[in-house]
Amino acid sequence: MRVLLTGGTGMLGRALREIWSSQHEVIAPPHAELDLTRPPQIFEAVRQLHPQLILHAAAIADVDRCESDPDLAFRVNTVGTACLAAAAHEIGATLIFISTDYVFDGTKGTPYTEFDTPNPINIYGRSKWMAEEAVRTLCPRHFIVRTAWLFAPWGRHFVTQTVERIQRGEPVGGIAQTSSPTSVLDLARGLLCLLEYPAYGVYHMVNHGAVSRYEMARVILSMLGRSPEEAVRLSAVSGRRAPRPDRTPLRNYVLELQGRDPMRPWTEALAECLERMGLSIVL
Ligand SMILES: NC(=O)c1ccc[n+]([C@@H]2O[C@H](COP(=O)([O-])OP(=O)(O)OC[C@H]3O[C@@H](n4cnc5c(N)ncnc54)[C@H](OP(=O)(O)O)[C@@H]3O)[C@@H](O)[C@H]2O)c1
Repeated sequence: MRVLLTGGTGMLGRALREIWSSQHEVIAPPHAELDLTRPPQIFEAVRQLHPQLILHAAAIADVDRCESDPDLAFRVNTVGTACLAAAAHEIGATLIFISTDYVFDGTKGTPYTEFDTPNPINIYGRSKWMAEEAVRTLCPRHFIVRTAWLFAPWGRHFVTQTVERIQRGEPVGGIAQTSSPTSVLDLARGLLCLLEYPAYGVYHMVNHGAVSRYEMARVILSMLGRSPEEAVRLSAVSGRRAPRPDRTPLRNYVLELQGRDPMRPWTEALAECLERMGLSIVL
């Protein structure tokens, strides 16, 4: 299948290129050639490349940057996505749109399913929720896939930052904020199952388990052969502009109901990630 990938240079995009290219023809134009802030360029690229599927992973995913520059967040995440959805519909392509647990406000107490109502509390979450609405309206052949707390053997995120701190001998820790850490490798593999049949709609796709940043730091320490007691329980992270929802673990409920949840526990995925970073794991 001919697949147009946006965000191919990003943390998730790199995994999608690696995994999807073995089964599909993946075309991943760089940001400069398919810029989500330039609607005519979006329509031109989609018409010219004429993919059967658009895998839309590009976004301003920096939550604090979205809060300080809402125009950019809505321009890229919402308006850009709306144009891509309209362009996909125009050529009859299916759209897979990557969304986020941050569409929820974090007050539910138990894992969110696809049947819960979003109520974002920051600009990033709002820009993605509005983008979901645009996708629903403009491109009937869509899969909206919400995921959370991505980690990868590459890039800058909680796992790589925590490992770097451990290697530098600095204290590590985390706050009580809780969600569902998810490997981009597992997500990229899991997304392939959506192509089995056209049951369009909203899906949650995360590794199994709900954990706080603090507990995650403890697990990383243990896997690297250190004492989990070294982890420090933090009450806040300095320099954060955007409010975060307290508890947004997701449940892959629709995939469960369809009998095909492809995801595994986040700790197994983390072990694979650390090994791919060249680290020795103690299990
Ligand atoms: N990271 C997470 O924990 C997380 C959690 C839930 C959902 N998500 C969602 O998952 C997806 C992937 O996230 P990620 O962490 O992989 O993001 P990322 O590493 O920040 O990558 C973002 C990608 O978007 C591209 N991009 C940014 N602005 C663009 C524009 N105006 N036009 C075209 N491309 C543009 C970037 O290209 P350049 O680098 O060249 O600018 C980059 O390839 C996003 O939709 C995000 O909302 C992420």
